[in-house]
Amino acid sequence: MDHFNYSQNRLFAENVSCTDIAEQYGTPCFVYSRATIERHFLAFTDAMKSHPHLICYAVKANSNIAVLNVLAKMGSGFDIVSGGELSRVVKAGGDPSKVVFSGVGKTVEEIKLGLDLGIKCFNVESEAELHRIADVAAAEGKVAPISIRVNPNVDAGTHPYISTGLKENKFGIELEQALPLFEWAHCQPSLSVQGVDCHIGSQLTEISPFLDALDALIALIDRLADKGIELSHLDLGGGLGVPYNGEAPPHPSEYAAALMKKLERFPQLTIIFEPGRAIMANAGIMLTKVEYLKQNAEKNFCIVDAAMNDLIRPALYSAWQRIEPVVKTSAESKVYDVVGPICETGDFIGKERELNVAAGDLLAVRSAGAYGFTMSSNYNSRPRAAEIMVDGDKTHLIRQRETVESLWSGEQVID
Ligand code: LLP
Repeated sequence: MDHFNYSQNRLFAENVSCTDIAEQYGTPCFVYSRATIERHFLAFTDAMKSHPHLICYAVKANSNIAVLNVLAKMGSGFDIVSGGELSRVVKAGGDPSKVVFSGVGKTVEEIKLGLDLGIKCFNVESEAELHRIADVAAAEGKVAPISIRVNPNVDAGTHPYISTGLKENKFGIELEQALPLFEWAHCQPSLSVQGVDCHIGSQLTEISPFLDALDALIALIDRLADKGIELSHLDLGGGLGVPYNGEAPPHPSEYAAALMKKLERFPQLTIIFEPGRAIMANAGIMLTKVEYLKQNAEKNFCIVDAAMNDLIRPALYSAWQRIEPVVKTSAESKVYDVVGPICETGDFIGKERELNVAAGDLLAVRSAGAYGFTMSSNYNSRPRAAEIMVDGDKTHLIRQRETVESLWSGEQVID
């Protein structure tokens, strides 16, 4: 459930009309609903309240510091994958001791930053990285908290680009190799073994792959316990899907309940989730204006002022996101390809959409709060869009639209 609803055929973000937002801030822009972010976060914490837990929001989904700050104020932890994301969390008032650091390519500088800030855990993705963390921590006179990310080899049943738990994926460490690495880490004075983690993919709409992954992790925890290695947390990653187009993914409460059945015998083990999309996707929309309507023998095109540089998911994954008019009318509708101004055939926001629109109308692209702005670029020298947070009847500009001048601010001509 989100707080983007129609009232008298006009789309509202909480109590603010989306037409007013577009007039005030221009288009394209991303609009987030604070109440929706909070509601989605609480769905996770409520679902887990009977067990020690930490929700580490996956910063990559939407890293605006206002978004991170709303979550930090609710006690959220954070899953980060770069020094940049870690710095954003700190800037936003997040607590580094609730940060888990994922990603296959952590640099020495990033490891040092994590150690200096006292993060909760490094989620280690390879033997080489484990050695590097041990060395960096030893050189700094510190003890690095670590978890080993295992690759449980389960098929998440999602788009191949966002499936991460199969043997052919670059992520994690094969189960068989994890045990000796845990034993090695356990003996290192500069490492403190804290947990085990996995992340099998994104936009999962079934519980069973998560349960398969959990079975694999529990079997490993039992084997570690036999060797005298006790873990304090189990991190199941993110990945819970959202409805984009009628999908019915499990609610966080169903998801948690199914997992908790298997975790009853571990009352001391803190369970970590790293949801990104489930918190942010439907807490945001992208507003765009229709520039032109165009027709050829084959198709109707609705040319809008947003493009693949603003929202790349349709071009990159053939992702489907709902597109609807900000003001609904009863005019006749036609089937359009909704396309942007970028010089690529792949520059579309949606294909074959039934819409009644005229030039100058506003459209809302739904489910744009996650992997929208964070994946945007300046392709075709397009300044990136503004971001706005709605809170009840107030709007806040949380990122100003980029200026054209800022596009070349780090560039230099030569003699
Ligand atoms: N934890 C780790 C280690 C991850 O790699 C990811 C996402 C998450 C958590 C959060 O997953 P979520 O709950 O959001 O599914 N750009 C793609 C999604 C890529 C996800 C990458 N990893 C998209 O637009 O669909």
